[in-house]
Amino acid sequence: MTTPRKLHIKSYGCQMNVYDAQRMVDTLAPEGFVETANAEDADLVILNTCHIREKASEKVYSELGRLRVAKEEAAQNGREMRIAVAGCVAQAEGQEIIRRAPAVDVVVGPQSYHHLPQLLKRAKEQGRALETEFPVEDKFGFLPDPKPAAIRARGISSFVTVQEGCDKFCTFCVVPYTRGAEVSRPVARIIDDVMRLADNGVREITLIGQNVNAYHGDGPDGKTWPLGKLLHRLAEIPGIVRLRYSTSHPRDVDDSLISAHRDLAELMPFVHLPVQSGSDRILAAMNRKHTADDYRRIIDRFRDVRQDIAFSSDFIVGFPGETEEEFAATLALVMQIGYAGAYSFKYSPRPGTPAADMQETVSAAEMDERLVRLQELIDAQQSAFNKAMIGNTVDVLFERAARNPGQIVGRTAYLQPAHVFASPDIIGQVLPVRIDSLERYSLLGELATPTPRPASPHPHMTTGA
Ligand code: 5AD
Ligand code: SF4
Repeated sequence: MTTPRKLHIKSYGCQMNVYDAQRMVDTLAPEGFVETANAEDADLVILNTCHIREKASEKVYSELGRLRVAKEEAAQNGREMRIAVAGCVAQAEGQEIIRRAPAVDVVVGPQSYHHLPQLLKRAKEQGRALETEFPVEDKFGFLPDPKPAAIRARGISSFVTVQEGCDKFCTFCVVPYTRGAEVSRPVARIIDDVMRLADNGVREITLIGQNVNAYHGDGPDGKTWPLGKLLHRLAEIPGIVRLRYSTSHPRDVDDSLISAHRDLAELMPFVHLPVQSGSDRILAAMNRKHTADDYRRIIDRFRDVRQDIAFSSDFIVGFPGETEEEFAATLALVMQIGYAGAYSFKYSPRPGTPAADMQETVSAAEMDERLVRLQELIDAQQSAFNKAMIGNTVDVLFERAARNPGQIVGRTAYLQPAHVFASPDIIGQVLPVRIDSLERYSLLGELATPTPRPASPHPHMTTGA
C-alpha cells in the first residue's frame, strides 16, 4: 500500500479551473494523494493558474517565490516538496516558467493534467523539471477511449464540463489560445457523469464550458445536439432538481436554449450572459459580432418565456480607444437591462491577442474612474435585487450546515445564499423559505413549511416556478 502523501491545490480564475482542480485531486487519489489545506506541509503543491488578465498571471510568480522558500525549508527538514504549475499560465508560458522559477518540478497545461501521475514520475526519474509533452489530450473523455478518473460527487451541487475551448477570438481574450478550439463532449458521456453524480447525492448540476452555449455534442441518435436539447435530456435524470449552465456567448443563444427556459422547471432562471460593452464601435473592435441592440433583443427573448429570469454579465472598461461617450453607452445598457450582479474589469493587454497591438490607450486614471462608476451602478442594482427578496417566499436548495450553529445554508434560484434554522435533514431538498432579512449578500429566513418533508418521490418537481 502506498503511504498517503499530502496534496495542496491552489486554484485561480474561472469555474473551469475550480472543476479542473477537483479532477486533479481525483486523478492523483489512486497515487495515494490526499488533500491538505496547508501548502507548507504538502508533498505536492499544484498552482492551477489563470492567464486572463495580467494581474492573475503575475500572482503565480509571487506565489512561486513563497513556495520556493517553503520547499527549501522542507528540504532542510529532510522532506521533499514538489511543485507543479497547471492551468492557462502553464499553457501560455511553458518552459519559461521553469526558467523563471527553477523550484518548479512540472508544468502541465489545462488539457493534460490527467497525465500528472506519469509526468511526476518521469520528472523524478530524470531528475529535472518537465513540461507536459502529450499532444493528444482527453481529460474529459472527448475521445473514444477515455482514461480520465471517474467524476466524484462533492456535496449537493456539482460542475460538469460539457464543452471546452473557444472559437470566438474576441480581440482582448487569451482563452482561444490557452484553452484551444471548441470541443464538445458526447451526450452519452455527460449523461453518465450526471447519473453517477445524482446517485451519489448531487441535486444540482452546472454545465460548464468557456463558451457553453456553443455546445454541439454527438447525440445517441447520431445527430448533433445543441445545449437546449442536452438540458431537456438531463432534466429527466432522477434526483436532478436544478440545472444551470455557464458561460454563454450572446451570439450562440438559439431557439433550443430559449425553449429549455420555457419548458424546464429544473432550469434555473438565472443566466450569465457577458456583453463586455454597450458601445457598438467597441463591440466591433472587440470582435464580439453583435451590437448592443442585438443583446437587448436576446435578453427580451429570455424574458418573454420566463418572466422571473435574471441576468449577470461581465464588462471591460478602458478597451483601447474607449471614449467617455462609449463608456456612457455601457452605463446606459446596464441601466436598461437591470442586472442581478456583474463582474467588471479594467482592460488588460494580453500578449499575442490582437487588442494588445492596438495603439490607442485609455489612461490608468480614466480606467479607475470608469470602473468605480460602473461598479457603483452594478452594486446598486445587485442590492436592489437582493432586497426585493425580503418578504417573499422563495425556493432554496439546501446544501450544508452553515458556520452558525443550528443554521443550514442553501441557495435561491439566483445563487443568493439563504440561511434558516432547521434540521440537517433538509440538506439536498428544495424547500420554500420566507425571507425575513438580508445581511450583506446573504438572505435569512424561515422554512415556509415548518416540518421538513421527506425526500420527494418525484425529484423533478421543485416547489413553485
Ligand atoms: N482584460 C480585461 N478583462 C478581460 N476579460 C477577458 N480578457 C480580458 C482582458 N484582456 C474578462 C471578460 C471576460 C471575463 C472572464 O474576463 O469580461 O468575460
Ligand atoms: Fe474569450 Fe470571447 Fe471566447 Fe469569451 S467568447 S472565452 S471572451 S474569446
